[in-house]
Amino acid sequence: MLKIAKLKMNYQENPVGVTEVPQFGWILESNKRSVMQASYELQIAADEEFERLLFNSGKITSDESAHVFANGLQIKSSEKYFVRVKASDADGESSEWSETGYFVTALLTSEEWKAEFISAETKENAGESKGTYVRSSFGVKGKVKAAYAFTTALGLYKFYINGQKVGTDELTPGWTSYLKHLTYQTYDITTLLKEGENGVGAMLGAGWYKGKMGFVGNRNNYGDQTAFLGQICITYEDGTTDTIVTNSSWKGCNAPVLFSEIYDGEIYDAREEIEGWAEAGFAAEGFWDVETVSFNKEVLEAQSFSKVTEVEPVAAKRIFKTPQGDTVIDFGQNMTGWIHVKVKGKAGDRVELNCFEVLDAAGNVYLDNLRGAKETLTYICKDDQEAEYHPNFTFMGFQFAKIAAYPGEPKIEDFTAYAVHSDMEQTGTFTCSNPDINQLQHNILWGLKGNFVDVPTDCPQRNERLGWTGDAQIFCRTASYLMNTYHFFAKWLKDVAADQTPEGGVPHVVPDILSGKTDGDWLLEQGSHSAAAWADVAVINPWTMYLTYGDKKILEDQYSSMKAWIGFMEKHAKDYIWNYKLQFGDWVALDAQEGSYFGATPNDLTCTAYFAYSTGLFVKIARILGNSEDEKQYSDLYEKIVDKFQRTFFDSEGNMTAQTQTAHIVALYFNLVPEAYREKTVEGLLRLLDKENGHLVTGFVGTPYFCHALSQNGHTKEAYELLLKDDFPSWLYQVKMGATTVWEHWDGMKPDGTMWSPDMNSFNHYAYGAIGEWLYRVVAGIEADEEKSGYKFTTIYPRIGGGLDYVKANYSSVYGDITSQWNVSGDEVTMKVRIPHNTQAKICLDQAKEVLDGDGLEFVAENGFMSASAGSGCYSIRFRK
Ligand code: BGC
Repeated sequence: MLKIAKLKMNYQENPVGVTEVPQFGWILESNKRSVMQASYELQIAADEEFERLLFNSGKITSDESAHVFANGLQIKSSEKYFVRVKASDADGESSEWSETGYFVTALLTSEEWKAEFISAETKENAGESKGTYVRSSFGVKGKVKAAYAFTTALGLYKFYINGQKVGTDELTPGWTSYLKHLTYQTYDITTLLKEGENGVGAMLGAGWYKGKMGFVGNRNNYGDQTAFLGQICITYEDGTTDTIVTNSSWKGCNAPVLFSEIYDGEIYDAREEIEGWAEAGFAAEGFWDVETVSFNKEVLEAQSFSKVTEVEPVAAKRIFKTPQGDTVIDFGQNMTGWIHVKVKGKAGDRVELNCFEVLDAAGNVYLDNLRGAKETLTYICKDDQEAEYHPNFTFMGFQFAKIAAYPGEPKIEDFTAYAVHSDMEQTGTFTCSNPDINQLQHNILWGLKGNFVDVPTDCPQRNERLGWTGDAQIFCRTASYLMNTYHFFAKWLKDVAADQTPEGGVPHVVPDILSGKTDGDWLLEQGSHSAAAWADVAVINPWTMYLTYGDKKILEDQYSSMKAWIGFMEKHAKDYIWNYKLQFGDWVALDAQEGSYFGATPNDLTCTAYFAYSTGLFVKIARILGNSEDEKQYSDLYEKIVDKFQRTFFDSEGNMTAQTQTAHIVALYFNLVPEAYREKTVEGLLRLLDKENGHLVTGFVGTPYFCHALSQNGHTKEAYELLLKDDFPSWLYQVKMGATTVWEHWDGMKPDGTMWSPDMNSFNHYAYGAIGEWLYRVVAGIEADEEKSGYKFTTIYPRIGGGLDYVKANYSSVYGDITSQWNVSGDEVTMKVRIPHNTQAKICLDQAKEVLDGDGLEFVAENGFMSASAGSGCYSIRFRK
């Protein structure tokens, strides 16, 4: 039985708001093994019955089921298209048609925007961060066949039709380099409309656009006024159409949001609510004329994907009194989002909650590490009815909230936290017999949830929450096992490209709100762009998307950005040693001098290592895209950098000139060690590890690859030992200290509960969570292939060790689920593997001496393991080690 299980478009089900014909992909199901697709047929129609066929591929002989294009299909704006596919396998078995999917188009060209940005604010309000309403009404003249709304804002917005909030998105339109790239959202509003008069409105807040952002504290980074843009396209049953747009006829007013900012929280006065403001027949008394705001509509881009939403509720675990007498709610999980509060008071009564991450050593409220961020929710009751509220235009990083004010006795059920983040499909699960590792895995996942709030942030709590490129670079591979990050990164990488300097330099943070505004900051005054490991995000992240999803489009889209970045390094390198202004080096490594954030590994070394690594990846990318001139030019450059690296950072006896763990790790992992010195370099790393009693002292550059550098060089045992260390400094130290997310510092909280400096001490910082990819790639052994990327070919090679009795991991690839499970009992290992249909794999048995049951596979001995080629399907293999 061959079946199409899931039809996807641009890796999503039924995207709403696309401006190009999407890429199509599907998952095949079959009860057979070794199933490969022989052909497919793809149809696209204007109607659900497929009577008005617009595209029919006919039978296409192909094993491609992930990146299929409907070449030649012409699409129109604001339309719904229906899609179905069927396939047959190499045995000639055919599937039925898949379930029908659809995609909805947005506005295909910027000229189609007839709406104008409108604001209830004036330039006089530049210094304020209050909420406003804009509203209008419109007539619906007959039976509506379909209606779509296209909406966005300068600032943040919530969109309403007939009094009802449209969609479940939050914090729209997210954060991009607004003046160069602003997303808009598409909503199917067909069922929200009624014949006759309809009310329409939006509530706006300052958000990232206008509020205070960055630790240097600038506000109005993009503009002085919030503004809303909306266009509604209605198609009636009789084929006629209507367009409703925002323009100067709309009216504006202040909203009950008295204050709202990303760092400081929100003040909401329910007494200021205006009954019926977004409904039909509203008199709009006290409302004033809106101003139109000019803005370049060519930068608008439809966003159909990974929009921020309330993803999951987290119930309060306890309410308690601290030794200092504060009443505190504990949600049991460090997280990002906000609290829903239920309250019954009387008009003017206040709820005030101060959100924070950790308790201090004495068990009291600890706010110092939030630095300038207030993270405070304030709600003022309008009457004596029970009300429920959650913030609109802010978010908090917290596990706890101090109840600074609440009418009556707060009850645990009055407070529910919601994790708010970019909505992405969870693709990875990992469990094993060691509960501490499982907790670490949980913490890594929550680090992702907490820091993928439209942009990849360093942390979600203090007055920072910026798109630090280095953090996003080192965590990208891990994140892409855990969730489908394709659109999230594709969107953000556009801003990386948009914010590059004319020379190709890559800002430290994207969207770049720091360049030109760093006066007085001791660190960034030295430079706001182009740091090794940070700026290399321009190459490494698109490459990771290609590896994970097999997607060449992102390589094409980012090609000139990558090339410009390599060009920047080349231009500023001296005889192939690259270094430039402010470098973070092996940031916050423990081998730093007392009081310094900069690790001991010299910048020349880390910079040149990354120069080589990115250039090497770029050579591969040029080849994949068939650009042979670039391939040749940059492989010459690559060889020169590697040669220089080897001559500079190894002495004549093959010792590394920098005796740090990180120097050895990057040289090994980036393949920069002369073959003759490999053994010696590995020994050097082991010696440096031994010197620290088996502990790491690495920072942002060395940590992500430490275990890889060991396991790739015959020292899986030592890699496991490093992973399993649970005293300071180690990944599991934080687990033992009760962490529920990953910390910024190895010693964020000391064993006695006292804290590292409040200057920079986040308890939700995903960077060191980059160990996650080692769990998937090595412990579970699910590894992508550079040639047949997107897991069209997978190597399953779990490394047995660490005293683990079992490991079970699953990764939902674009072709389907890949499972790798192993159980050890004495010297017998049972492996259960699942390979998706229409893909192939190599299964490797670690340390295998004898195969007891190959489940039909032919295993042959290789160096230290046994391997077999496998087609799709499920296998249960037993071997003796
Ligand atoms: C951030 C980091 C970031 C670093 C760069 C910090 O303030 O939180 O994660 O990468 O600065 O120096």
